[in-house]
Amino acid sequence: MSSIKIMKVYIETFGCQMNEYDSERILYYLGEKGYRKTMDMDESDIIVINTCAVREKAENRLFGHLGSLKSRLKGQSSKMVCVGGCTAQSLAGKIQEKFPFVDIVFGTHNISRLPELIDERSREGRIICSVADEGFDYALDETKRLDPYRALIPVSIGCNNFCTYCIVPHVRGREISIDPIAIINTIKALVSDGVVQVTLLGQNVNSYGKDLEEGIDFSYLLQKISDIGGLKRIRFMTSHPKDISLSLIRTIGERENIMNHIHLPLQAGSDRILKKMNRKYNRDRFMKIVENIYNNIKDCAISSDIIVGFPGEERKDFDDTLDIVRRARFDRVFTFIYSPRQGTSAARMEDKIPASEKKKWFEELLELQNQVSFEKNSKYKGAKFKVLVEGFSPKNKDLLQGRMENNTVVLFKGKKDIIGSIIEVKITETKSFYIRGNVSK
Ligand code: 5AD
Ligand code: SF4
Repeated sequence: MSSIKIMKVYIETFGCQMNEYDSERILYYLGEKGYRKTMDMDESDIIVINTCAVREKAENRLFGHLGSLKSRLKGQSSKMVCVGGCTAQSLAGKIQEKFPFVDIVFGTHNISRLPELIDERSREGRIICSVADEGFDYALDETKRLDPYRALIPVSIGCNNFCTYCIVPHVRGREISIDPIAIINTIKALVSDGVVQVTLLGQNVNSYGKDLEEGIDFSYLLQKISDIGGLKRIRFMTSHPKDISLSLIRTIGERENIMNHIHLPLQAGSDRILKKMNRKYNRDRFMKIVENIYNNIKDCAISSDIIVGFPGEERKDFDDTLDIVRRARFDRVFTFIYSPRQGTSAARMEDKIPASEKKKWFEELLELQNQVSFEKNSKYKGAKFKVLVEGFSPKNKDLLQGRMENNTVVLFKGKKDIIGSIIEVKITETKSFYIRGNVSK
C-alpha cells in the first residue's frame, strides 16, 4: 500500500495584527497547494517567518532567530525556509547576504505568489528574492482563519501619513481602501459560518474610504457592518487622532455591537514633538477627542501608544506627555523607546538625549501608567461583564482567558468547551495588568 506524504508548514508571526492576518493568507495559499499547518517545526517541510520592522528590536530579534534556526537546521537541507513581512520587504538584500540558507525572501505585496515562488525554488534550485515595491493582492476570501469564532478583516492596506519615525508607509505602501461591498459580504458569510467577532484592520483604519469614489467614510462602514444580523462584536484598529470625527464617536456610542474600546496612539504629549513627528494634531485637540469619547461612549476604554525619546525631545516635552497621561486616563498604554529606522526622516534628525536618560523617562512613564491602569481596573471589582472566551491563557495554562467588551483581558477557571462563546464573568481580583474573575452561574 502506498501512502501519500502530507506536506507541512510551520509558521511564525512577529508584530501586529496585520501580520497575523497576512499569516492566515500565507496558510491559505499553502493550504491550496496541499500543505497543512503544524505547530512542530521538526516535522515541517516549509518554515515561514513573517517578520516585523517597526522597531530595531524586532529586526535584531529576527536576525538572532535566523542565526539559531541555521544551527537547528544543520543537516536538514530538505526543509525550505521562507522569510516574508516587513523586514523582508525593507532588508531583503541583507537577509540574503547574512543568511544564505534562507530559500525564499518575499515582500508584503506579493503574498499570493508564494506558491509559485516555492515551485520556482524547487524547480530551479536557486534562492528566490521577490520583493515588489508595490502591488495589491488582497482577496478577502483567500485566508485561513485560525479561530472559528473570530476573524481579522483588513479594510485598508498601507498608510499615507509618513509619521517621521515610522517605517510602515515605506514597506506597506500607500493606503488603499478595500471595496465596502466585498468587506460586508465577507463578514456576512463569516457570521453564517459562526463568527461572532470581527476586528477591522488598517494602519489608519479611520481614514477608510478617502480614496474611494463612493464618498464612504469609516463611520458609515461601521454602521453597515453593525447592521449585519448575528454579529456580536466589532473591533477596529488603529485609529489616528487626526481622523476621529464626532460622527464616528457617536456611531460607536450608539451601536450595541461596536465595542467600547478605541486604540488611539498619542505618541507624544508635546506640541513641538508632535509637529516633528508629523502627527497633524496637537495636545488640545487630542484631549478634546478623549473628552468626546468619554462623553459619548459608555464606559469606553482608551488604549494608546507612546514613544519616549524622539530626537530633540527634552525634559519639558516629556513632562507634557506625562501631563496628558495623567489627564487622559488611558486604560492601557504600549510604551516604546524611540528606535531610528533607516529611510525615515526622523532617523536623520539630531538626537542628543543619552539612552540612559530615555530609559529613566520610560520607567517614569510606565510607573505613572501602571498606577492609572491599576485605578481604572480596581473599579471593576465585584461587577459582572460579558466576556468572549478566547482560549487558555498563554501564561497560565490552567486558566481561560477572555475579553470584556472594552478589550480588558480577564482570566478565570473554566472548561475548554466554552471557548468561542460569550459568558458572564464576575470580577474578583484586579491589578495593573491582570484581572481575575469567576464564571457567573
Ligand atoms: N521607534 C519606536 N516606536 C515606534 N513605533 C513606530 N515606529 C517606531 C519607532 N521608530 C511605535 C508607535 C506605533 C507602534 C505600533 O509602534 O508608537 O504606534
Ligand atoms: Fe506609521 Fe503613522 Fe502610518 Fe501609523 S499612521 S502606520 S505610525 S506612518
